[in-house]
Amino acid sequence: MIEAARKMLSQATRIVSFSGAGLSAESGVSTFRDPQGLWSKYDPMRLASPDGFADDPQTVNAWYASRRQDLWQARPNPAHHALAARTDIIHVTQNVDDLLERAGATDVLHLHGTIGKDRCHGPCGHEEHIDLAEPPGLRDCPDCGAPMRPAVVWFGEALPTDTWQRAERACQECDVLLVIGTSAVVYPAAGLIDVAQSHGARVVIVNIESSEASGLAHIELLGKAGEIVPSLL
Ligand code: OAD
Repeated sequence: MIEAARKMLSQATRIVSFSGAGLSAESGVSTFRDPQGLWSKYDPMRLASPDGFADDPQTVNAWYASRRQDLWQARPNPAHHALAARTDIIHVTQNVDDLLERAGATDVLHLHGTIGKDRCHGPCGHEEHIDLAEPPGLRDCPDCGAPMRPAVVWFGEALPTDTWQRAERACQECDVLLVIGTSAVVYPAAGLIDVAQSHGARVVIVNIESSEASGLAHIELLGKAGEIVPSLL
């Protein structure tokens, strides 16, 4: 199967990678829905929703500060390096970490935003880069006074329009979609697999176990991303 997938990828001219938390798992970054994942310990509606932030901004900010410090210590794994080395691949990710960029990728479409920035929770759009080693406390936007918050997409919020449109177009036009380490249950992001498949792309999935997207796969490779992805690319 690996050989067949490698051949499929080597014959493709337009490849898109679509990744989730499993891509960064071997870098020590927690996934969400695995048995030890973040959502097994924490309530996503308290920590990753506008209502949760309105109810208890301190708790939300403290949780993101701890995730930021974990991420500061993480390093890209061989899957990030193998992907980043392929400048011809369009990288679409649900991950809010910057491990693909730290591996050298320059143009990553972050569907769910990035934890390396804060933005104004009000309408003004002000953004600030964050030092992951020393995340700031709660503070107000210097432009409009609304609270600052992590620049990630929370449950119930829209995806960034331009990023979504670029990702959707890339999936409509690709020959192969390489899906790595996602449970494929969060929409609209997971819908990109169906978009690619229905536009004629071959779908190759890398995951340690079957997922909601398994039925769309032309080839499903069960194993760790850090081992399989480098051998594919
Ligand atoms: P999940 O935690 O839902 O799924 C992680 C997937 O990675 C699972 O299917 C695992 O089997 C797989 N996996 C774990 N370790 C792996 C490894 N070493 N190699 C390959 N696969 C591995 O994470 P996502 O699908 O990314 O949203 O979750 C989607 C969204 O839900 C996230 O972006 C986040 C979350 O709530 C926001 O933050 C908005």
